[in-house]
Amino acid sequence: MVPRYLVNFDLDALPCLSFDLLVIGSGVAGLSTALRAARRYRVALLTKTTLTVTATRIAQGGIASALGADDSPELHFQDTVAAGKGLCEEQAVWTLVREGPMRITELIEEVGAHFDTVDGHLDLTLEGGHSRRRVAHAQGDATGSELEASLTRRLLYNKRLDVFENYYAVDIVTVDGRCVGALGMDCLSGTISFFHAPAVVLAMGGMGQLYAVTTNPVICTGDGVSMALRAGAEVADLEFLQFHPTSLHLPETPRWLISEAVRGEGAVLVDHTGRRIMRGVHPMEDLAPRDVVVNEMVRTMKKLGRDHLFLDATRIAPEKLKERFPTIYRHCLEAGLDITRTPIPVSPAAHYMSGGVVTDLNGRTAVKGLYACGEVACTGVHGANRLASNSLLEGLVFSWRIMQDLPAWLERGGMARKELEGLGHKAKRSRLPVEVGLLRRFLQQMMQDCAGFRRSEDGLREAWEFLDKNLEVLRVEYLSPSGFELQNMITLARLLVSAALLREESRGCHYRTDFPGEAEFWKRHVVFKARGGRVMRELREVGDLTGGGYAWEEEG
Ligand code: SIN
Repeated sequence: MVPRYLVNFDLDALPCLSFDLLVIGSGVAGLSTALRAARRYRVALLTKTTLTVTATRIAQGGIASALGADDSPELHFQDTVAAGKGLCEEQAVWTLVREGPMRITELIEEVGAHFDTVDGHLDLTLEGGHSRRRVAHAQGDATGSELEASLTRRLLYNKRLDVFENYYAVDIVTVDGRCVGALGMDCLSGTISFFHAPAVVLAMGGMGQLYAVTTNPVICTGDGVSMALRAGAEVADLEFLQFHPTSLHLPETPRWLISEAVRGEGAVLVDHTGRRIMRGVHPMEDLAPRDVVVNEMVRTMKKLGRDHLFLDATRIAPEKLKERFPTIYRHCLEAGLDITRTPIPVSPAAHYMSGGVVTDLNGRTAVKGLYACGEVACTGVHGANRLASNSLLEGLVFSWRIMQDLPAWLERGGMARKELEGLGHKAKRSRLPVEVGLLRRFLQQMMQDCAGFRRSEDGLREAWEFLDKNLEVLRVEYLSPSGFELQNMITLARLLVSAALLREESRGCHYRTDFPGEAEFWKRHVVFKARGGRVMRELREVGDLTGGGYAWEEEG
């Protein structure tokens, strides 16, 4: 059961602000879309807390792109599809790898982002699954922060752009399958306004908060995907939730990412005796694709009865380690750990949503005027497992493409505010008393235990029953961001669990202990849409992610 809107409303009674384009989210995808669009159009940028609280900002490793003398888009393509385990949409991957270098050059030359260099050339590093050094980085291990800062600097002086911080986007408003804007709640006053715009770009990041252990900021609750689903868009590949191998594992300390680039510079994963766990497991050893590394870590931890392993970075010369990874070095030191001397305790954590809202190569969703970009989107570039450091690149490449598509859409003209008079939504709401924070924590733990990296039918069914029992929450009218988040999390958790139950195989970051091998049949995407409150499901062949539409079945 998926309600069309989380709130009842009467558009005529809401404050209304009109723009040409509404961008929701302030990571690399949102900022770069807004920056380009505001050269020409009146743009509103909504962000849930402040501009800087995003997954982009804490991205450490960098941006992958074929910029090295020994590299090519073909090699980047091969590595991306190898990591994606047969589920990548090849046209989308070609778009990413061919256009990526141009977008990075623009970022440097037009936006003024500073990447680390050696002898006047980009200092490219290695990460898991890459056959070449192709990951550009900034300030050592603060790539996302440099990107955010440089994009934000350019953006804030633009008079055509209005930034709305602490605004929670509740729902996309549609008329006859066409997007006419969105409802946004001012988190400080609780007032809901109608942001009237003929085009909306969702750039709201992922859903790591569905899990108790995650590298994601607290805002990553899958709002964009749930909202798009409610508005009529298709969502796919949700079972491919990527776990990052190395999150800092210290008691009483929040999980924190230790970049894969540390392994790229020579660190290795060891157990408590110092044995290298990736030796003999994969030809790329510690730099195997993420799913392979996480799988071996989980297997080893289970065998040893331990909840963490170690990343030994003491093999890197101390001065180089401090200079190359200043943020990680400082963070660990503040937590009482000198990583130049002591191996770092690490364990896997939920990190990245490989699927999301289905889009074509121009970021268009199935709802006219609604675009999606970055982690929230499923362009098909990641398949069953994202190649490290392809995500910032995806945000840059596809935001550029949205901007190529947008003028033609806007020229057709949107619906005037007057034409929307009388529009609203009124549904019977449940009065169920729910302790939102408590249920959120239960949900996170349930997903961690039953729908984490290793899954089986028994665990997934337990999660399904838990979610089923709590579906009534979707009918409550919370009128608060924490309530909306919970509703979005339950919506997505249910789809993730449903797809994970259906996919009776192991592929990429979806590992079923009861189906440990890949199955030829499952070279398919699991696609969902909501219609009239019901969730429909379709299996789509690889290569046809945005096609299909002929074999919908009711899910459940
Ligand atoms: C990392 O620095 O390891 C994270 C990069 C990514 O997730 O692509």
